This record gives sequence, structure tokens and C-alpha cells, in this order.
Amino acid sequence: MGRSIGRVLYPGSFDPLHLGHLDVITQAVELFGNVVVAVLHNHEKPPAAFGIEQRLELIESAIAAATELGASVEVQPFEGLAVDAATRAEVDFIVKGLRNTGDFEIEQQMAHTNWSVTGVRTVYVPCDPALGYISSRFVREIARYGGDVDHMVPAGVAGALRVLYSSDPAPTSPEMTAPS
Ligand code: PNS
Repeated sequence: MGRSIGRVLYPGSFDPLHLGHLDVITQAVELFGNVVVAVLHNHEKPPAAFGIEQRLELIESAIAAATELGASVEVQPFEGLAVDAATRAEVDFIVKGLRNTGDFEIEQQMAHTNWSVTGVRTVYVPCDPALGYISSRFVREIARYGGDVDHMVPAGVAGALRVLYSSDPAPTSPEMTAPS
């Protein structure tokens, strides 16, 4: 802990936050010191399952419950480019979690693009192998049909998913994007 080197931005949709995300945040605090969790508020994408305010609240609650994270984590929304959020937050670099080679290919292209455009670099954190199968997309799908996701998400998120899908579990449209 004493050798931490700075402040990093961890951007994502977090729709919703899952235990893999929380592991990356925890590792980033241990490795780098301070982490800004930047939550994408994107008006152009299909609507998120959880609105931006609720995603921020769910992340803040999970961080507060993980007492070892203390005051090392800030949570903030962002619109537009992650590199602009990184500049505004005055971080040293962006951090991303890697679960598998699929993640690597996507993240490597984003990292190279962001670096080429702005000089903001990205570092990767390998996920906890026990959590590498978890994705927000599959958490949503399982929860929507009443499946058990309690082992994949913080307790507050599990409760929010139950409330979200208690009245109308029917999907509105198929999801075609890569799991995140
Ligand atoms: O949790 P996700 O959906 O996998 O996160 C993806 C995210 C939000 C990190 C990525 O889509 C992103 O950085 N979006 C902001 C727009 C941007 O910076 N685009 C340029 C990418 S090279």
C-alpha cells in the first residue's frame, strides 16, 4: 500500500456494478492509491437498465460497504470521451480490468486510440480468476427472468435488480452488444 503511485480513472457503464468491477477497484486502490470511478452517462446508447443517478448510488453504497477502500475512491458521472473525463479528474492514467482475450482485443484498441489522440495511457488489471465469468449483461439477463445473481453483485445491486424486474420481467429488445 505504501508504494502506491497516484490517481487513476476507472471508466465504465456499470449497468450494474458487479463483483468483478469491485475487484478491479480494490486492486487499483492497492496498486495506485486513488481511484476515480467514472460512470458513463450516454444519451446515444440504448437506455441503461439503471439510470445514471441510481448507478452512482449503487456504486457509492458498495464502496462504502467495502470499508478497506476508505476515502480512496471517488465516484462521478461523465458524458463524452473517457480521456476528457481523465483530464478533468487530473488522473495519471486510465485503468481497465481484463477478464479474457476478448476483453484484451477491445481494450487494446481503445487504449491505443486514446493514447494516440491525447497521450492518456491505459493500464490493465487482471481480474480475479474466480470472478472472470461475470458480466453486467448476463447479470441483467438472469435477474430479468428471476435467476439468482446474489453471488455476482453487491447486496444492494441484487436488491435493486429484484425491484427493477419485479413488475415487468419481459425484455424490451434483444441485447447485441458485447458483455461488460
Ligand atoms: O462498461 P463498459 O460499457 O464496457 O465501458 C465502456 C466505456 C464506457 C469505458 C467506453 O465505452 C468508453 O470509454 N466510452 C466513452 C466514449 C469514448 O471515450 N470513446 C472512445 C473510445 S477509444
